[in-house]
Amino acid sequence: MSAPSVHFSSATDLWATPDDFFAAQHKKHGFTLDVCATPENAKCADYFTKEQDGLKQLWQGVVWMNPPYGRTIGNWMRKAYESFQDGAKVVCLVPARTDTAWWHDYAMKGRIEFIRGRLKFGGHKNSAPFPSALVGFEHPGIDIDRVHFRSKPTA
Ligand SMILES: C[S@@+](CC[C@H](N)C(=O)[O-])C[C@H]1O[C@@H](n2cnc3c(N)ncnc32)[C@H](O)[C@@H]1O
Repeated sequence: MSAPSVHFSSATDLWATPDDFFAAQHKKHGFTLDVCATPENAKCADYFTKEQDGLKQLWQGVVWMNPPYGRTIGNWMRKAYESFQDGAKVVCLVPARTDTAWWHDYAMKGRIEFIRGRLKFGGHKNSAPFPSALVGFEHPGIDIDRVHFRSKPTA
């Protein structure tokens, strides 16, 4: 596949996660659902395509989200955050656009990991012209110490 131009509007769909990068994340989280994909670039056996419209589906389990990078990205981040509130664990790979409304409204509610250097997305010869970040929405495990402390009888 030749490197798509960032000036094509469809190019916003084509930032496929580098395989080695995904493998490291998958090892850590064990993803069960890729919510925006094609049969060719899906990262999980279960996935939603454009035709199914991942935004209209129920996201459950451990979700991988590398969304289209165009104008709808805020909708994807909202859906990720809302799905987390409904019980899913969602990890999002997004451009680190820290000045945008979606970053402030949703990304900043998650655990943010800024990626050092630039990713070389699937099918691209060169590194991306933008920085990336991982945003994780997950419920923290029960804090045993705090539970223990709380259950202690007061003197
Ligand atoms: C940045 S690519 C990520 C592909 C792959 N999931 C990955 O992580 O490498 C975004 C994908 O979302 C798909 N897509 C676009 N609109 C969608 C929609 N409404 N529902 C589901 N998938 C969609 C595109 O076809 C494209 O494959």
